[in-house]
Amino acid sequence: MAGLFISFEGVDGVGKTTQVERLRQYLESRGRTVLVTREPGGTPLGATLRQLLLRNVAEDAADIAPRAEALIFAADRAQHVAETILPALERDEVVITDRYLDSSLAYQAGGRELTAREIRDLSLWATNDLLPVRTYLLDMDPAESHARLQHDEDRMESAGDDFQNRTRRAFLDLAKAEPERFRIIDAAQPIETVWTQIRVDIDDLFGYGEASR
Ligand code: TMP
Repeated sequence: MAGLFISFEGVDGVGKTTQVERLRQYLESRGRTVLVTREPGGTPLGATLRQLLLRNVAEDAADIAPRAEALIFAADRAQHVAETILPALERDEVVITDRYLDSSLAYQAGGRELTAREIRDLSLWATNDLLPVRTYLLDMDPAESHARLQHDEDRMESAGDDFQNRTRRAFLDLAKAEPERFRIIDAAQPIETVWTQIRVDIDDLFGYGEASR
């Protein structure tokens, strides 16, 4: 498989979408075919699962149980890999996904307190062990990043400060445990500074030398 698989991670509101779009434009300007996608909701089945996961549960209904939530995210991911990601990698494309398995590790294990082992095993089973070659963790205090959100909070976003802080910490721990795959970027910096840090790393990853910049 000659394609390249890249993911962006971080708590809500850190600016992943903006940086994903910058990266798409940059790689396309370098002649690569790029597929931008996201989780949850990167396929038609996933779009339905996304609605189940993110809509606020009616006041008289029980919230989604942690194990059910983890399974629905994993089902979304399994379909995403099978239907979208793997075929694009096989066509030699660059796949950039806004969230992937580390979000489950950070939110369902870090945030919801299922074990990391359970969530990792579930996710790797769902994806047939497919991992990105590079993961950009856009890191920021959730109190600041949430203030940037320009829509009403969804079910995950409204889960409370402790949950968001545990999630951020879990992302940082994941990144520190896998320094070869992760790059931690301070997302509180200006957009241009964040992008420059990503671009320098991408140039390195793709072997785009100084001379051709
Ligand atoms: P989004 O708003 O960035 O598209 O993400 C939707 C929400 O779902 C976000 O709050 C993070 C959460 N999420 C998980 O809890 N587990 C996962 O595996 C994924 C992919 C997202």
